[in-house]
Amino acid sequence: MKTQSWLAAGVFAAVAAASPLATSPAKAQGALVMYCGVQEEWCRAMSTAFEKETGIKVAMTRKSAGEIYAQLKAESANPRGDIWWGGTGDPHLQAAEEGLTQEYESPANKDLNDWAISQWKAAKQRSIGIYAGALGFGFNTQQIKSKGMAEPKCWADLLDPKLKDDVQVADPNSSGTAYNLLATVVQLMGEDKAFAYLKALHKNINQYTKSGAAPAKATSLGETAVGIVFIHDAVVFAVQGDPIKPVAPCEGTGYEIGSMSIVKGARNLDNAKKFYDWALTPAAQGLAGPAKSYQVPSNKNAPVPPQSPKMSEMKLIDYDFVKYGSSAERTRLLAKWDREVKALPK
Ligand code: F6P
Repeated sequence: MKTQSWLAAGVFAAVAAASPLATSPAKAQGALVMYCGVQEEWCRAMSTAFEKETGIKVAMTRKSAGEIYAQLKAESANPRGDIWWGGTGDPHLQAAEEGLTQEYESPANKDLNDWAISQWKAAKQRSIGIYAGALGFGFNTQQIKSKGMAEPKCWADLLDPKLKDDVQVADPNSSGTAYNLLATVVQLMGEDKAFAYLKALHKNINQYTKSGAAPAKATSLGETAVGIVFIHDAVVFAVQGDPIKPVAPCEGTGYEIGSMSIVKGARNLDNAKKFYDWALTPAAQGLAGPAKSYQVPSNKNAPVPPQSPKMSEMKLIDYDFVKYGSSAERTRLLAKWDREVKALPK
């Protein structure tokens, strides 16, 4: 494990430049079917802005990363989607390896942080990094206080029996966040200890949700004491004054390279490429903050929301995206989690 410093540069990035596609659409320019893997508000901001700038009508559906991967696979004989924008990088890499997405090199590549280009290289040009975010958890300050507990700071603290039925996380089959947790603890602890940890944690889990960010909202409302989420998803509620405190776990943690891929056999290929180029511009990436999405953007010139967790100050593992995004490893780990963790009685 080593501490990553490569994200530091992005934290001081400059303010957005104007988008090269900022033209007034004279007539309808066709359609784009977008599978969107981030929060609804950001998905809507992106599809609306792109429509406005290009006249291309966007049909957008928001889903979790594992679900979009499964949908691409199910539709592969007759693809319906054009662009998969957002969601954790691992399922994007699996889709790339399985030939569900296609190669593309954008002129914007030269403006991107190294970690975004690493994703592109790992995917053999079939996926690119659009944002980064670290994994952690949020806890409800009132709930923790009323249990007479010290504030949880580490992954180990989530095994406290006082948290029985009071920790929430998503199901890694549907959620990229929860798969990131699975791959993170395997890398952090070694596979045997990681599964022992996940089995012990299972006793404290009240619900495996479908979407990765859902436990952040539940924690902010006091419906659960702890939610395991990307830290930026807990920050959303903390900055609006809810009683939730985001934590970067003391042992170290993993992170995501949120990604974008063009669907193999896309019916609206030209529009998918237009969207892809536009989505990498500082102006498009600057739509994140106002839509309450506090990930670190991949374009070096995009504005970093001031609320973004400072990844350069965290103890991050050297996450092996190639291994944990491979079809064999992701399939194996998910099947093992289903068998050895989810099937366990409480
Ligand atoms: O938009 C919030 C977010 O946490 C992204 O950073 C991440 O890529 C995505 O949601 C993961 O969602 P899910 O776990 O539902 O696949």
